[in-house]
Amino acid sequence: MKVLVTGGAGYIGSHTCVRLLESGYEIAVVDNLSNSSEKAIDRVKQITGADFKFYKEDLLDKRALDLIFSEDKYHAVVHFAGLKAVGESVSVPLMYYQNNLTGTINLCQSMKEHNVKKLVFSSSATVYGNPHALPITEDFPLKATNPYGQTKLMIEQILNDLYISDNDWDIAVLRYFNPVGAHESGLIGENPRGIPNNLVPYISQVAVGKLPHLNVFGNDYDTPDGSGVRDYIHVIDLADGHIRAIEKIKEKSGVVIYNLGTGNGFSVFEMIEAYKNACGKNIPYKIMPRRPGDIAACYANTDKAKKELGFKAAYGIDQMCKSSCKWQEANPNGYE
Ligand code: NAD
Ligand code: WQD
Repeated sequence: MKVLVTGGAGYIGSHTCVRLLESGYEIAVVDNLSNSSEKAIDRVKQITGADFKFYKEDLLDKRALDLIFSEDKYHAVVHFAGLKAVGESVSVPLMYYQNNLTGTINLCQSMKEHNVKKLVFSSSATVYGNPHALPITEDFPLKATNPYGQTKLMIEQILNDLYISDNDWDIAVLRYFNPVGAHESGLIGENPRGIPNNLVPYISQVAVGKLPHLNVFGNDYDTPDGSGVRDYIHVIDLADGHIRAIEKIKEKSGVVIYNLGTGNGFSVFEMIEAYKNACGKNIPYKIMPRRPGDIAACYANTDKAKKELGFKAAYGIDQMCKSSCKWQEANPNGYE
């Protein structure tokens, strides 16, 4: 079975390519490298010993997509390609709407024209906004609080409408919680451009001395220790969730939606402690005001993914931190 992976040079995409190849799938990757490096593709090949086609193309180029689909017959597409920085999306909303929406529409058009109607889409827990209760189930009300989140909500809507128009489609919408960690080899991992926005990449750069200290955004939330609580999931578990989702849509599934998280919430202070213990590094920090737009706590109810996909995260935060540290130490400047 052959799978086209959009955004496969990126953080989650590269780890999922490894798991797809290890699970016996043939793959090809399309990525414009706007937030990634072709070295990630070379490393996926190095880890797996497999070869596959890499297209450096933009999903905004519909003709390029048509050529890709006419060269080989694909059974399914796993669609990671998109811009993902919340703050940036507030500054340049048109770029986010154009890239994420037009890219997805072009992809679905081209898939339809080539009769490829099985899709796994990267959505996000951000579509739940500030949840009214915890843990979060898939039927919670949806609300976007920034343009990035809005693109995820709008794409979910587009995919629903697509299915209503043509029941031959089978679509898995995966709402990721907070992906962290790296492949055990230390060869692939998260490679943020500039100063990281997210907690664990920031901590890992403090751990190796690239950044002097962590800014803890708020210690006065209504949480056990006052800092923000999130559901961190190992990127290898997340990759595994995609394999399960592909298995699911091989049958006639229609549109299915799953949370991918561990179901456990950890605070910023607990993550600092876990990183210190896992890597033996000191993580100096300063308490700062809350980051605008942040919520106090967010973690998944994982029952649906467990019941319908047989998915359960296997790794704990110790392994998340250890693997992140290994990647950061081996690649202090990412893939550069
Ligand atoms: P990433 O930036 O590492 O990977 C995305 C990849 O898509 C990059 O390699 C980028 O070059 C490529 N890309 C972007 N626009 C493209 C276009 N128009 N044409 C071709 N390629 C394009 O991000 P990631 O963390 O691996 O995230 C993958 C997906 O998961 C994204 O859709 C993201 O919104 C979603 N997601 C990520 C997180 C997270 O915290 N990392 C959480 C929830 C959802
Ligand atoms: C986690 C916690 C911060 C950085 C974001 C997106 C979300 C999804 C995942 C794509 C919070 C605190 C952080 C720092 C800190 N992405 N923090 N100091 O905000 O839960 O989710 O990534 O879909 O849409 O919003 O993740 O890692 O940024 O923050 O104290 O330097 O760490 O306040 O409590 P977040 P995060």
